[in-house]
Amino acid sequence: MKKEKLKLFTPGSIGPVRLRNRSIRSAAFEGMCPDGIPSESLFNYHRSVAEGGIGMTTVAYVAVSNDGRSFAHQAWMRPEIVPNFKRLTDAVHRGGAKASVQIGHCGNMADSSATGERPLAPTGRVNIYGPTFPRAMNEDDMLRVAADFGRTVELARKSGFDAVEVHAGHGYLISQFLSPYTNRRKDRWGGSLENRARFMRLVLAGVRKAAKKDMAVIVKMNLRDGFRGGMELDEAVEVAGMIEECGADAIVPSGGFVSRAPMYVMRGEWPRRELVRHITSPFMKFGISVFSRFMIQNEPFREGYFLPDALSVRKAVKIPVIYVGGVLSLQKIEEILGMGFDFVAMARALIIEPDFISRLKNGRSLVSRCAECAPCNRCIATMYTGEAECMLGR
Ligand SMILES: Cc1cc2nc3c(=O)[nH]c(=O)nc-3n(C[C@H](O)[C@H](O)[C@H](O)COP(=O)(O)O)c2cc1C
Repeated sequence: MKKEKLKLFTPGSIGPVRLRNRSIRSAAFEGMCPDGIPSESLFNYHRSVAEGGIGMTTVAYVAVSNDGRSFAHQAWMRPEIVPNFKRLTDAVHRGGAKASVQIGHCGNMADSSATGERPLAPTGRVNIYGPTFPRAMNEDDMLRVAADFGRTVELARKSGFDAVEVHAGHGYLISQFLSPYTNRRKDRWGGSLENRARFMRLVLAGVRKAAKKDMAVIVKMNLRDGFRGGMELDEAVEVAGMIEECGADAIVPSGGFVSRAPMYVMRGEWPRRELVRHITSPFMKFGISVFSRFMIQNEPFREGYFLPDALSVRKAVKIPVIYVGGVLSLQKIEEILGMGFDFVAMARALIIEPDFISRLKNGRSLVSRCAECAPCNRCIATMYTGEAECMLGR
């Protein structure tokens, strides 16, 4: 492939933000915020992705409040950590890339041993995959969490981020409201899709207002929850339209439910052995080694696995659509951009090789090293226990 003809290396815009090329490092939890504080490893990793040629890098999952965390080594946005993030975004900008931060609340997946609080959810049903015993949110809780999203955007601006990515997929709190599986409410926040989407609209209105005109608002959403009884594609297409109406600058269609169908997000094999090896809690070790083989399904991996569904969203909205899901080669990137997607986001290819984009540009690679193991998903296991080993080059 002649590189001057490659769409990948043409600039593109997401709202007010201009990217030097069409590549984005997808939000993939780094596990690099011990005690909720961004570490030197997080700084080094994102700096290397920026220097490695990416258009924009996304710092993964930063909770909007302490009770929105699913791990003790996960950050929640607060003034004390703004200087750490500012240093990171300065380095990303020096590397020629833009910086985005994924913001969210994990609802019923919150780890109360880390947060000291009972998890919140649309409905007070036990989450057997935690297991967690959440409390059903009242309207004051919803308004408080929506305000936390707005406050987080303001701190993201002070931290130098060019964009925020609202996590409305993967079974996190907004997705728990959208999904008929987790939202059994009988009031105006549950039932019809319009009602289930009301919380998302509330959050996005505040996020858009706080982002003003100078920051891009990106929303990651589900195409399907990935199990029977979850949200399906027909509703997802409507959700994409609502996200556009709320003033988002771009959509990332994804899929899966971390607490119910995690491998639907990433595909391939659930790294059970690796998890058992890394996890220190004897209770968790036992649970994962005995029960996860019955509870968590492997999903076949195919390059570009979300393409057919993501195309439905592409056709339904006018704003930029960022494709994510199993992109491991230059050929696939060009194919996807040729289908009308505006950007291509990648997680695993940039975990194993932070300079993957430069390698494609200078012809050192055509295919990610991740393709060699199909992928192994070891990175998923190591993020549970702290710093993801692959990102540290181990
Ligand atoms: C180790 C790891 C951690 C992830 N953490 C997140 C996360 O925090 N937020 C999110 O939206 N997606 C997360 N993902 C999903 C990725 O962003 C992406 O949607 C998915 O891996 C498919 O892209 P890929 O095939 O390029 O890896 C994670 C993926 C991996 C492998």
